[in-house]
Amino acid sequence: MAVFTKKIMITGGAGFIGSHVVRLFVKKYPQYLIVNLDALTYAGNLANLKDVESAANYKFEKGDINDEKRIGELFAAYQFDAVIHLAAESHVDRSILDPLAFVRSNVLGTAALLNVSLRFWKDDLKDKLFYHVSTDEVYGSLGAEGFFTEDTPYDPRSPYSASKASSDHFVMAYYHTYGLPVILSNCSNNYGSHHFPEKLIPLMINNILNNRSLPVYGKGENVRDWLYVEDHARAIDTIFHKGKTGDKYNIGGFNEWKNIDIVHLLCRIMDKKLNRAEGDSAKLITYVKDRPGHDLRYAIDATKLNKELGWTPSLQFEEGLEKTVDWYLQNQDWVKEVTSGDYQKYYSEQYGKAH
Ligand code: NAD
Ligand code: TYD
Repeated sequence: MAVFTKKIMITGGAGFIGSHVVRLFVKKYPQYLIVNLDALTYAGNLANLKDVESAANYKFEKGDINDEKRIGELFAAYQFDAVIHLAAESHVDRSILDPLAFVRSNVLGTAALLNVSLRFWKDDLKDKLFYHVSTDEVYGSLGAEGFFTEDTPYDPRSPYSASKASSDHFVMAYYHTYGLPVILSNCSNNYGSHHFPEKLIPLMINNILNNRSLPVYGKGENVRDWLYVEDHARAIDTIFHKGKTGDKYNIGGFNEWKNIDIVHLLCRIMDKKLNRAEGDSAKLITYVKDRPGHDLRYAIDATKLNKELGWTPSLQFEEGLEKTVDWYLQNQDWVKEVTSGDYQKYYSEQYGKAH
């Protein structure tokens, strides 16, 4: 094996955000070995990493974070200095349909990964790092005013956010109890290429293209703070290299949008790109039953990350959304592949056959 200055295991690297993090690290740091550990669930797709798969500093290892034996063998083989942990079940609606899958991957899986990391590193914790990637959803739901800061108390409300909150607590418990060097970041909603079309933005793009109805939950008044996925990957890079051990950082776009306004904006962008008459795609909008326990508003205060580590988002939302739509239009093979098979089953379970 060539001599690498750092050997990093990135978990969940075949998923949406993970693939952007892997790509960034593989390209920017040829001196690091990047090992992507992923179970390849429905959300994991090696086609997301076609452009780096033959890089000399990249390796893929299929495996489940719950499999301590397998993870231990990988630690022994690669002698990792760091873990960047993104593997998780990530979709709120699926967590409502099957909460225990979220407990298994997000809670038990994270605890297993912490356990193996501690076992291998405990005799020499210097220069080791367990970086845990989490979500702003752990903070619960905001009213019309205010922002989540790093000091906002945890108040998760969905099985997804409860499982992520629990994983965050385990990470901090390993720091306080065993001295494991950890860093945690909590990010707002991401969008961009390679996003699985079960989440709002890629689902709407795909449905507009296929003239399918656009299912807006409740009145579409819920607010999310959207960040371009490559900006999240850059933030993770910054925090990984400059963040303080034992600390946590909020990451967000200062970019709040009501769901219904995003759907209208996407309709307008796609009317133009698909040469449809203005207003055509918006006719597909259908208000459907609200998500149970639907959090009203998320908004991140990312001042700490900006002030202490100098990170800022790079893209304006309209520009990022346009780039994202272009990617989906140019990568229909990818969309067809990920929406074949089980996706159809999930879609009818979630939205009913009529949609
Ligand atoms: P994703 O669902 O697109 O990808 C998750 C990846 O993890 C997939 O490749 C999947 O195969 C893998 N995986 C799942 N369970 C696994 C297991 N038990 N063992 C090994 N691999 C497993 O998710 P994403 O949207 O890329 O999110 C990545 C991380 O970022 C998650 O931890 C999520 O909570 C967090 N996050 C996501 C967002 C967002 O907007 N998507 C925002 C903030 C934080
Ligand atoms: P989503 O992309 O699932 O992210 P999260 O729930 O983690 O924030 O949903 C974003 C918002 O869009 C959320 O308020 C729920 C809403 N939504 C719809 O209105 N219709 C849909 O079909 C989906 C998937 C989401």
